[in-house]
Amino acid sequence: MYYFFRRILFLFDPEIVHYFVFGILKLLNFIGLLNLFKNPKKDIKHVFGLNFKNSIGVAAGLDKNGEYIEILDKFGFGFIEIGTVTPRPQKGNSKPRLFRVEEQDALINRFGFNNQGIDKVLENVKESNYSAILGINIGKNFDTEINHAVDDYLICFRKAYKIADYISVNISSPNTKNLRDLQSEDHLNILIKHLKAEQSKLKKLHQKYTPFLVKISPDLEPINLDVICKTLIENHVDGIIATNTTIDRQDILSSKYFQEPGGLSGRPLKNKSTSVLKYISKRLQGKVRIIGVGGISSYEDAKEKFDSGADLIQIYTGLIYKGPGLIDEIHRGIQQEK
Ligand SMILES: Cc1cc2nc3c(=O)[nH]c(=O)nc-3n(C[C@H](O)[C@H](O)[C@H](O)COP(=O)(O)O)c2cc1C
Repeated sequence: MYYFFRRILFLFDPEIVHYFVFGILKLLNFIGLLNLFKNPKKDIKHVFGLNFKNSIGVAAGLDKNGEYIEILDKFGFGFIEIGTVTPRPQKGNSKPRLFRVEEQDALINRFGFNNQGIDKVLENVKESNYSAILGINIGKNFDTEINHAVDDYLICFRKAYKIADYISVNISSPNTKNLRDLQSEDHLNILIKHLKAEQSKLKKLHQKYTPFLVKISPDLEPINLDVICKTLIENHVDGIIATNTTIDRQDILSSKYFQEPGGLSGRPLKNKSTSVLKYISKRLQGKVRIIGVGGISSYEDAKEKFDSGADLIQIYTGLIYKGPGLIDEIHRGIQQEK
């Protein structure tokens, strides 16, 4: 059924289709129809001190503003990561900024953190009813100098702390100038130290510990990964998300979108992302827990991530190409494996 709708939807601009589909789903949710498809998938996992009802999550970027939490919850995700959210609202890059590389089950996006700003996004969350774990992914505004980036992360961190189950710190989007420089040793150390200090202050204030995770790029060299792993272990950071999209185009050389700037996700990203996952997993030795994301479009792909060291997994592009049935497929596979 999904493939039938997909054939029609794929005739239109991908960004317009995104808002159209979620607009319809919101309507169906409002009139109670989504409850008919509600599909709780139980396979409890305890990670970062949190109880996940299952290990399949939706990756950041699908619901940038926390407007579709109830829908994604009803799809059966164990956790939902919203954002990336910045301190102030911003429009993002000019359109078109999302492209389908259909022959490869991939997407290229250069959204540039279009979002309603942390205050509005938190209002959206408060109005939502959900049972999944909620992650809030935070970033910096495009016009904040990289040397002041810490201030932006701190603003979002303080505001999101109480309401989020976990916070993920996005320093790996290729669509915000210089953002990925924050993965370098000096920048990362400063950022992590500030966030850790803030986390312990907020823990006392709210009597609640909110874990935070760092989301990394698949385009890092082993030497950079070593530095990141060392910094996260030394500072007792709760988790790492591997990975964001890639700027590498080697696997889509033949596509007409080859030259479109932005982050590539989906099938061509899988191996690159999994190599990073394997590499960091060996170095982290379970001291920092891992969410594996990048190119998952089947149970076999998900299993490969778990076998490579992931505690939990996230999907985005696979969901666009295969529909919500992908969550069932992965969940069934996990259950059968037990
Ligand atoms: C259209 C689009 C928008 C995205 N926006 C964000 C974002 O705002 N923040 C972020 O951390 N990751 C973002 N991502 C990256 C995804 O969260 C994920 O890390 C990446 O797409 C790899 O997973 P996938 O191959 O399953 O899509 C975005 C991905 C896509 C396709």
